[in-house]
Amino acid sequence: MTTPKTSPEVCGMGHSMKRKEDPRFIRGRGNYVDDIQLPGMLHMDIVRSPFAHAKIKSINTEKALKIPGVLAVITGETLAKYNLHWMPTLMSDTQMVLPTEKVMYQAQEVAAVIATDRYIAADGVEAVEVDYEPLPVVVDPFKALDPSAPVLRTDKKDKKDNRIFHWQAGDKAATDKAFADADVTVVQDMYLPRIHVASIETCGCVADFDRVTGKLTVYMTTQAPHAVRTVFALVAGHVGLSEEKIRIVSPDIGGGFGGKVPVYPGYVIATAASVVIGKPIKWVEDRMENLQADSFARDYHIHAELAAKKDGTMTALRIKTIADHGYTDAAANPSKFPAGLFSICTGSYALPNAFAEVDGVYTNKAPGGIAYRCSFRVTEAVHCIERITDVLAQELKMDPAELRMKNFIPPEKFPYKSALGWEYDSGNYPAALRKAMEMVGYEQLRKEQAEKRAKGELMGIGISSFTEIVGAGPSKNFDILGLKMFDSCEIRVHPTGKAIARFGTKSQGQGHETTYAQIVAEELGIPAAHVQVEEGDTDTAPYGLGTYASRSTPTAGAAGAMAARKIREKAKKIAAHLLECSPDDLVWETGKFSVKGAPGRSKSIQDIAFAAYTNHPQGMEAGLEAVSYYDPPNLTFPFGSYIAVVDIDRGTGAVKVRRFVAVDDCGNIINPMIVDGQIHGGLTMGLAPALLEEISYDDDGNITGGSFMDYLVPTAMETPAWETAKTVTPSPHHPFGAKGVGESATLGAPPAIANAVVDALSHLGVRHVDIPITPEKVWRLLKEKGLAE
Ligand code: CDP
Repeated sequence: MTTPKTSPEVCGMGHSMKRKEDPRFIRGRGNYVDDIQLPGMLHMDIVRSPFAHAKIKSINTEKALKIPGVLAVITGETLAKYNLHWMPTLMSDTQMVLPTEKVMYQAQEVAAVIATDRYIAADGVEAVEVDYEPLPVVVDPFKALDPSAPVLRTDKKDKKDNRIFHWQAGDKAATDKAFADADVTVVQDMYLPRIHVASIETCGCVADFDRVTGKLTVYMTTQAPHAVRTVFALVAGHVGLSEEKIRIVSPDIGGGFGGKVPVYPGYVIATAASVVIGKPIKWVEDRMENLQADSFARDYHIHAELAAKKDGTMTALRIKTIADHGYTDAAANPSKFPAGLFSICTGSYALPNAFAEVDGVYTNKAPGGIAYRCSFRVTEAVHCIERITDVLAQELKMDPAELRMKNFIPPEKFPYKSALGWEYDSGNYPAALRKAMEMVGYEQLRKEQAEKRAKGELMGIGISSFTEIVGAGPSKNFDILGLKMFDSCEIRVHPTGKAIARFGTKSQGQGHETTYAQIVAEELGIPAAHVQVEEGDTDTAPYGLGTYASRSTPTAGAAGAMAARKIREKAKKIAAHLLECSPDDLVWETGKFSVKGAPGRSKSIQDIAFAAYTNHPQGMEAGLEAVSYYDPPNLTFPFGSYIAVVDIDRGTGAVKVRRFVAVDDCGNIINPMIVDGQIHGGLTMGLAPALLEEISYDDDGNITGGSFMDYLVPTAMETPAWETAKTVTPSPHHPFGAKGVGESATLGAPPAIANAVVDALSHLGVRHVDIPITPEKVWRLLKEKGLAE
């Protein structure tokens, strides 16, 4: 654990400071988009398609417009007049804002009703008459790639098939050779189903265009307000929206998890409506719209192969994946990474050869492929390597812990260059697994399992030893729509020694107001309680790329430290002036500069701040402030080892997670309590897809899993008591040795649980079960094996 260097009063790094934002939240004083009320505000509701693929023959708005209070119905034709009926996606594909010709998935936006009241808008939606002509539906991505499949993107004149991209990494020839030479090879198909972030707050906005000043303010649920401002300016510049007149405000956000990175059609329609009508327009989706139409995650069909020597030494990994993107590539990946950071799929192992390929495919489903609490397809990569590792252990009849220990990248080999090109910054994988095994009592559990098996009881132990990759930039490789991925911080120290720090990121519940204040406290010695943190308002915060993919600590957090260090440099000169000595004679110790050898002669940061405005050296600019735009030299590579213990009910097939031990390493920790909160939440969000959550479609493209009736989010009933611990392996390149942590648990938990279930059934010849591992799936397996009770 990171030992605090500052006093509890200063509350720098390593202190479990209570969250500064919580008094606001627990007293109901949060300020979410739906809390915003503006004078004259109108409301918008959206007409959505019941068909997955259909031609729009006509839209009749007459009846809707007759409803008292309905002021306008906006259709694709309305937006086409301003050339705003299509918009770019983050992957430079195109997405309909509203259709003019056909719909491409069930629940797609078809028209929008503007009314004086939310309920009247909903009545208006009911009254809009749309005449559809159904078209053939393509749901299965494998069938979509068949040459006989209808080409879905008829809007792209030269498109002759449904393939979006082919991406590959690694040395194919060397990998094929290693497979040919291998003693043992295993192969496993696995499917990571479509899931949804299902955050507590759905998406929405209040768009407010002031016709007199020409200023557009949009309060919206976005994780990346600055990028949205620039995209709005680029896409709508031709209708007079100029970037200095656009203000995007992300108020409090009730969970983002990657789902609030894309720009959804609703934001654009509400904004266009506000510009045309000249009044503020509020749009807030309901739960079913959120689940059915907002970006989904995963939907990866993975074919994985692993080669090894007889003794278990892994020699090569080969992966082929079909990625179902729905009707447009609206994934939220950095531009140059169509399959995100899937190439982290060699995981924690010293694999000398690897080759991975991914084909993105169009289908008649909602678009997406977002990084749901995951640094761009890393969850998919981790599931793949951790599952196939267990398949190999089963093939070799080796203990999965022993197999992992044998193949871990040795601690002394860091920085380590992986076969697929990443330079892992630091790691100590054996230490994390050893700690998890000790905590869970691994040897004893194996004995218990053998005893239970003899009695016909089903108990399994599953390990996942994952490596994450977080903190995009570096800007030389990472951009979103051309915007380089760095992040920023601006700190102003006031005369009385208090400070305001503004960041280019935006918390959605992660506790930035607290942890960022702790970073400033650590660097400057100003108590965290006296550092006001602000994010999310493009009129005031410095430009940054936002919060997702656990990037805040590695990028903006680093910028916070760098800005504080610039302030410290200036503070040193002011202290030298006050103490009448040379700056070289001064030493810094949290919160004050002292004269070397004369510790009594010192000036505190508060004295210095006051002097910066009242008694600064002549020739020096007054004030004490700095800004930093931090471009990380590399990503950070958090890791961990998780062990799940499950019991399976032979009567129902239900899986009960009896124990779950999570040992995480995110380098130096700013706030241990917040990190634990991140892990607890992440583990629950990992349990969810492992056992419960899935959005699927029938052959006609009808969604199942589009409401909370059948999209099962975990409750306290299904959630075990998580047992957590840490190891600390600092990042060598991060200014204070930290790595991101927000997503580790979400990606580490599902394979641990899946491995535990397969482990419980392995003696029956079961090698793999796709997630979600529902009671029905397990019960059918047990029935097949003659074990169902
Ligand atoms: O980008 P996001 O905030 O989602 O992820 P993160 O950078 O992993 O941080 C999640 C929360 O954990 C933030 O409040 C961080 O400041 C905190 N954290 C920490 O206290 N120590 C770390 N080494 C990493 C994150």
